[in-house]
Amino acid sequence: MYKFLIRPVLFKFDPEDVHHFSFSFLKIIQKIPFVSALFRSLYVVKNPKLEREVFGITFPNPVGLAAGFDKDAKLFRELSNLGFGFIEIGTVTPKPQPGNDRKRLFRLKEDSAIINRMGFNNKGAWEAAKRLRKNKRVLIGGNIGKNKLTPNEEAIHDYEICFDALYSVVDYFVVNVSSPNTPNLRELQDKEPLTRLLETLQNKNSAKPETKPILLKIAPDLTDEQLLDIIDIVKTTGISGVIATNTTISREDLKSENQKESGGLSGKPLKDRSTEVIRFLSEKSGKAFPIIGVGGIHSPEDALEKLEAGASLVQIYTGFIYEGPGLVKKINKAVLKKKDFNNHK
Ligand code: FNR
Repeated sequence: MYKFLIRPVLFKFDPEDVHHFSFSFLKIIQKIPFVSALFRSLYVVKNPKLEREVFGITFPNPVGLAAGFDKDAKLFRELSNLGFGFIEIGTVTPKPQPGNDRKRLFRLKEDSAIINRMGFNNKGAWEAAKRLRKNKRVLIGGNIGKNKLTPNEEAIHDYEICFDALYSVVDYFVVNVSSPNTPNLRELQDKEPLTRLLETLQNKNSAKPETKPILLKIAPDLTDEQLLDIIDIVKTTGISGVIATNTTISREDLKSENQKESGGLSGKPLKDRSTEVIRFLSEKSGKAFPIIGVGGIHSPEDALEKLEAGASLVQIYTGFIYEGPGLVKKINKAVLKKKDFNNHK
C-alpha cells in the first residue's frame, strides 16, 4: 500500500517538507487512543528468536532506525511502534545549529537514493536529553558530533559535552566523524586525532559508575589502509564496535539528473560498498568487535547480506523512505526464517 498509494503522493512534494509532514502525522495520529496499539499489531514482530545480545545490550530485534531521521529525539516512541528494535537519535551537537541552507535534501528516484547536505541541523544535545528522560521502553543510540564552528583542534570538547548531556538517557553512543556535510569533520577519522578522541571518551566513560558502549561510525569512502587503521584503533581504545557506513561522496553509476548535488549519497547505490566495508572489517579483525551494518538496505535480502558479511545488527534510513515501514517487519520475518541468524546471543 505504501509504495503504490502513499509514496507517489509524498514524492510529489519537497523531501524536507514531506519529512516534517510525516513526522507530525506519526506524532498526532498515535495520540489517538488505540492507534499506537494498532501500529504495533501491524508492524512489530515479537519473537525471542529475534533477540540478540550485542555489546552487553539485549536488542528485541536486529533492525534499527539509522541516525539523521529523528535527530532531536522527538519521535522515538512512535517510531518504535513501527517495529524497530532500536532508534538512533542525532547527530546532536553541543549547541543548537540550523544546518545548511535549504534546499539540502534531494531524491534520486531513478537510483532509489537520496543526497543530503543537512549539516547537522539540530536543537542541541541538552534538548534531546530532556526528551529522552521520558523514555521508558525503547533502546536508544545517541549519535554525537561537533558544531560546525568548532575547529577540529577543539572538537574533542564538543564530543565530551554531548557525552555528558546524553550519558544517563542513551543505551549506547555513536561517535560520528564521517558526515561529509560538516567541513573537515572526516579528517577526525585519521589515526592520531581519532585515537585521541576515542581515548578521551573512553576515559570519561570508565570514570562513570556504569560504562556505556561507544561505537564509531565510519565513512564508506575509507581506503583499505584506513580501514586497517580503524581496526587497530578499535582494539587499542577498547571501544565497543563500529557502525558501517555513513553516506558516500562517490557518485559512481548513477542515472538521476540531480546526481551532481553536493552532499552524502545514501540508498541503493551505497549497498555494495557498505557491505564490502563490513566484510573487510569483520574478516581482517577476526570478528574482534560487533558491527552495525547500514547502507542501501531496501529489501530483506539486502539486510541478510549485511548480516552474512559480519554485521550483528542492521539499520535503515533511505530504504524506510522508499519502501515504507513494512520493510522493518519484512526484514524481521526473513531473519526468523534464516536459522543461522536466530537468537544470536
Ligand atoms: C543521514 N545519515 C546520518 N548519519 C549520521 O550519523 N548522522 C546524521 O545526522 C545523519 N543524517 C542523515 C540525514 C539524511 C537525510 C540521510 C538520508 C542520512 C546517514 C544515515 O544514518 C545512514 O548511515 C546512511 O544514510 C546510509 O543508510 P541508508 O540511508 O542507505 O539506509
